Amino acid sequence: MIRPFVFGVAVDTEHFIGRQQEIENLSSNLIHGINTILIAPRRWGKTSLVNHVAENIHDKDVKIIHLDIFSCRNEYDFYNVFAAAILQQTSSRIEEWKQYAQEFLTRLVPKISFSAEPNQEYSISLGITPKTHTPEEILNLPEIIAEKNGWHLAICIDEFQQIGEFPESLSIQKRMRTVWQHQKNVSYCLYGSKKHMMSVLFQQKSKPFYKFGKMMYLNVIPTTEWIPYLQGRFKLEGKILPKDIAIRICDAVENHSSYVQELAYDTLLCTKGTETTDEDFAQAFRNLLDDNTALFTEKTERLTTYQLNFLRAILDDVHDGFSKSDIRDTYNLGSPTNIVRIKDALIEKEIIDITDKGVFFADPILMHWLRRKL
Ligand SMILES: Nc1ncnc2c1ncn2[C@@H]1O[C@H](COP(=O)(O)OP(=O)(O)OP(=O)(O)O)[C@@H](O)[C@H]1O
Ligand SMILES: [Mg+2]
Repeated sequence: MIRPFVFGVAVDTEHFIGRQQEIENLSSNLIHGINTILIAPRRWGKTSLVNHVAENIHDKDVKIIHLDIFSCRNEYDFYNVFAAAILQQTSSRIEEWKQYAQEFLTRLVPKISFSAEPNQEYSISLGITPKTHTPEEILNLPEIIAEKNGWHLAICIDEFQQIGEFPESLSIQKRMRTVWQHQKNVSYCLYGSKKHMMSVLFQQKSKPFYKFGKMMYLNVIPTTEWIPYLQGRFKLEGKILPKDIAIRICDAVENHSSYVQELAYDTLLCTKGTETTDEDFAQAFRNLLDDNTALFTEKTERLTTYQLNFLRAILDDVHDGFSKSDIRDTYNLGSPTNIVRIKDALIEKEIIDITDKGVFFADPILMHWLRRKL
């Protein structure tokens, strides 16, 4: 099956475009043992980038380990996922990781279950608890394995912002940093989807992970890179996408990676003739908004009147100066303290983002959808 466009899951091969500079920088960091913190808003392409870079590193002494800690709720959940990923991905056979487990993590009773996941033959659960192992033993596991085998391990941890939600998060972060910063054969690439949470973990001076590594901020993929991809994919389906409509697809979603692919797909479906018309594109855009209605309704239904008023101001192109009295009066925003509260709540809900140019919607399609409703 040829999929014309892919959205919502990490992309690679013919669906992965651009990011040349980021690929170079991240590859160098992983190969040279430099810790990296990758921050970008949701669905811009963090996971795709890290996967792509990892797949293209063919240095036999560098081993890349991937783990996704989205489902971890506390410190020991993390240690189980962390140790399992390291053991599994540094050994080629079940017997080998069992031997590793016994050698490096004594006192374990690991369980193996054969996995339903297509890219994984089996999964392991180690049963690590505070009674069996100290945090330091687990955090040091990669260094011991790397040293013993003469490897460099690059550990890529996706959805790292979860750490910020763990009970006693700060002391856990301190433990991690203390152990990790002394490792000579292991480096870390930490990335996650809540831009705000990631910034709190890595950009505040008082936090343990401050200056832990090189910060990378993803930008959007520029329109010039999208045009040939979009036109090429249409061509494979026997359709012609005029350049000006390719540009409008990018503009409509502010080059947000996942939405570019989704809107291009909707546009392809709406193209009944050989060549996409303006009306086809307009219909596709309406469809995109409609398809997101359930999601956006859920995201916005519990917003307070103040919060909605604040969003109305942004829709009117107000991006800063919210506490000036004329703006507060026009949009009924309450006191300056109230405005701080509104902003914090909307950032927390990932509805707005603060950039150096002011306050903006985090999601361009949510913005269009709200404009229709408010
Ligand atoms: N380099 C790329 N080339 C083309 N499309 C891309 C690229 N990167 C991302 N995308 C598009 O964005 C979507 C989301 O990508 P990905 O899952 O990598 O983002 P993410 O930032 O990890 O998302 P999340 O915040 O959900 O973790 C992909 O399904 C694809 O449609
Ligand atoms: Mg991701």
